[in-house]
Amino acid sequence: MARLGILLSGRGSNFIAIADHIASGKLKAEIAIVISNRGDAPGIEVARQRGLHAVVIPSKGLTREAHDAQIIAALQSAKVDLICLAGYMRLLSPAFVRAFPQRIINIHPSLLPAFPGLEAQKQALEYGAKITGCTVHFVDEDLDHGPIILQRAVQVLDEDDVSSLSARILHEEHLAYSEAIAMVINGDCEIRGRCVKKSPRQR
Ligand code: GAR
Repeated sequence: MARLGILLSGRGSNFIAIADHIASGKLKAEIAIVISNRGDAPGIEVARQRGLHAVVIPSKGLTREAHDAQIIAALQSAKVDLICLAGYMRLLSPAFVRAFPQRIINIHPSLLPAFPGLEAQKQALEYGAKITGCTVHFVDEDLDHGPIILQRAVQVLDEDDVSSLSARILHEEHLAYSEAIAMVINGDCEIRGRCVKKSPRQR
């Protein structure tokens, strides 16, 4: 069974959706560790309540490299196969990305490469996009940039505000993340250049 390491900084609804998909048997994986850089993240409290191995590794007073070194050590000791960033609001150091080649994935609330960075839903609204959505992608050394595993589209409505649009995107995120995790851990896809393609046996 694939062992997942989840990194989060806040609410943790994507983590909860993954945990729920596992509990219901829809996703065949186990959560080996949940790590937060913030002790007050609601998501880490949920992880504790669910009896998962939940660890807070604060970044205060540490360089990015020193903080990441502690996270890398925790993930390695938990023997994770795949690292899922789920609202983890810190940039990863190059050393972190290199420690787990092609084994870190992220979810982002836009159709990348549109609207990377913070407040992607607000960016889409202000730009006047008619379609936005969410993207699950492999993490490389650039922000919101690595090969795309899957995307789900969401229509932007005239009456949308940031809150209503974010809620509809989040609904899709919760479905997309577990689907993408299954594709990666089952070996259903492979990275070719910056593209993710179905594995030959899937075609
Ligand atoms: C999600 O919308 C996720 O896509 C976004 O943060 C939110 C976390 O929510 N991530 C990013 O913007 C990363 N660039 P959650 O804590 O409820 O999962």
